[in-house]
Amino acid sequence: MPIRFDHVTYAYPATRGGAQPALVDVDLTVADGEFLGVIGHTGSGKSTLIQHINGLLLPTTGRVTVDGIDLADRTARREVRRRVGLVFQYPEHQLFADTVAEDVAFGPRALGLPAGEIEQLVITALERVGLDFCEVGHRSPFELSGGQMRRVAIAGVLATRPGTLVLDEPMAGLDPVGRGAMRELLRTLHHQGLTVIMVSHDMEDVAALADRVLVLRNGAVFACGTTSDVFSHHAELREIGLGVPRAALFAARLAARGVVLHAHPLTVEALADAIASACTSHREVG
Ligand SMILES: Nc1ncnc2c1ncn2[C@@H]1O[C@H](COP(=O)(O)OP(=O)(O)O)[C@@H](O)[C@H]1O
Ligand SMILES: [Mg+2]
Repeated sequence: MPIRFDHVTYAYPATRGGAQPALVDVDLTVADGEFLGVIGHTGSGKSTLIQHINGLLLPTTGRVTVDGIDLADRTARREVRRRVGLVFQYPEHQLFADTVAEDVAFGPRALGLPAGEIEQLVITALERVGLDFCEVGHRSPFELSGGQMRRVAIAGVLATRPGTLVLDEPMAGLDPVGRGAMRELLRTLHHQGLTVIMVSHDMEDVAALADRVLVLRNGAVFACGTTSDVFSHHAELREIGLGVPRAALFAARLAARGVVLHAHPLTVEALADAIASACTSHREVG
């Protein structure tokens, strides 16, 4: 069952009655199994929005429901937190335990699960992020590389087996290799059936992964649609200070010169395919 934002407005307590709310009348549905990218300028409300999905923040007005459960209900909120895993920006900063295994076990332990079950959950969660329990389980998380630490943090969220994973800038600060690996990990988790909501300022990452894109501007929904549809609005996005994926820009420049591709490529690979097929059909016509 879906995640629903029903006319959600949120003002931080410090700014209530004063400045513009951080979220303004946001209406949104995220379906099961979807990969939603959330983009927008700094301060547009992305982090505020995702903290509503597991009730860390509660709407000032409006309603958020997950699987039909209203997050305003304190008891129900606990259940939603099992279903929705939230990975903060730089989640490795929140690692704290002496060993990787202990850190990943924190969530399942807080749920009061039996010890035997917890170990299996930890093993599986580490496996899902590409880490081997026997190899890293006993090590201090702080001895690992930055990319590995981030994986441990994500494993900690996956350990309670949420159906939805929400990530705030999961690629931030990673080098190109780490970035590629994180893309692969998120793609795999999505293919395994997780609903994924990813905040990102990198249009290439969003284009490579998301089915749909939500664009926020000053806390309000500026656009929401399929990734190819949203990224076809170059001019509008540019107006609010956002770019589009390189491949989409390239295709638009070709179109301006009279070379129209019969697809809306969003990645370099898709662009190459579209150009190749345009060349083939051109040859056939000629
Ligand atoms: N703890 C806070 N207290 C008051 N205002 C905040 C707080 N956190 C964020 N804001 C404000 O809310 C708005 C949205 O911020 P945020 O959700 O962090 O945006 P984004 O993640 O898109 O950069 C901004 O104007 C920001 O200054
Ligand atoms: Mg943010």
